[in-house]
Amino acid sequence: MSITFREELKDLTPYQPGKPIDDVKREYGISDVIKLASNENPLGCSPKCIEAIKKAADSLAIYPDGNCTLLKESLSKKLNVTPKQIALSSGSDEMVDILAKTFISKDDEVILSSVTFPRYISTTKMMGGKPVIVPLEKWTYNLDGMLKALSDDTKLIWLCNPNNPTGTMFTEEKLLNFLSKVPKDVIVVYDEAYNEYVTSDEYPKNSIELLKKYDNLIILRTFSKIYGLASLRIGYTIANEEVIQNIDKVRAAFNVNSLAQAAALAALNDEEFIKKSYETNKEGKKYLYEEFNKLGLEYAQSETNHIFVNVEKDANEVYVELQKRGMIIRPIIDTWIRVSIGTSEQNAIFIKLLKEVLNK
Ligand SMILES: Cc1ncc(COP(=O)(O)O)c(C=O)c1O
Repeated sequence: MSITFREELKDLTPYQPGKPIDDVKREYGISDVIKLASNENPLGCSPKCIEAIKKAADSLAIYPDGNCTLLKESLSKKLNVTPKQIALSSGSDEMVDILAKTFISKDDEVILSSVTFPRYISTTKMMGGKPVIVPLEKWTYNLDGMLKALSDDTKLIWLCNPNNPTGTMFTEEKLLNFLSKVPKDVIVVYDEAYNEYVTSDEYPKNSIELLKKYDNLIILRTFSKIYGLASLRIGYTIANEEVIQNIDKVRAAFNVNSLAQAAALAALNDEEFIKKSYETNKEGKKYLYEEFNKLGLEYAQSETNHIFVNVEKDANEVYVELQKRGMIIRPIIDTWIRVSIGTSEQNAIFIKLLKEVLNK
């Protein structure tokens, strides 16, 4: 007799994260490696976070505050919601998992986009849900297509705005129209991991206000991107109080460690760092667009800290060739890669190496 695993795991594969810098150094025997593969903040994090972590390190033997009370208070003031409308998680990645466990039962239909954050489909399948995939349109979420995909069995919809990996966004007008047409018993998870980088005026800037009208809306955010705390694993969710109460039944009691809580609290109070990160990203995006234009490479308009670009060669091949030269990016699909926007130096090195690899 051999051990067996849940049927739902059969066609799942482990998540493939961006390749670690040290792996590439070892594999190719090189010492200078740049990673533009995981949409991290190239400026690091606010120095205030480091100070806060040093202080919090005095209490490593003590369990963290499982309710993240101080952080919830600070977030609630900033976002104008009650602390009871907020849940913290070990990255928003964990919250995707928690939400799947909170809402998805066997055979529930779950609507999601084709090229988007991969945890939506894996957690859906893990719970025995049936993914209903709506292809992107011009690399952008097709909300009308998602409305057409609704059925009596639809339980939940995963939205990512702006989207990873394509960087594209849908407008406030489209979101409002969509929410007004989704039945009130269908959960809409709205992942805003990259919202702080958006430059477009048409983006739904006040999504949190929509919680007053839509009890079925759940908003996900993270400290991993513009706040530069990816390694600490901390994200936050805003929803109605009943949703948060049920999330609390599912999540582990101490899912966010005390260093992460302290750093996140400090991060919220350093607006200057966020502004600098936003500006660096905006300038980097402009530079990369210009270089892609000169090279005649097509790309999707990005509202994030990464660009989805057609390198007109097999993406995996370009990924390997760049890696040999000390540059880690992400192959996504066919001839499309995703590159995170780095510092100006990193971006220039990326372009130099890309030209070499593409013989341009
Ligand atoms: C759209 C989106 N959602 C969620 C996450 C998860 O982020 P984290 O778990 O680091 O908060 C990511 C990470 O890349 C992402 O791109």
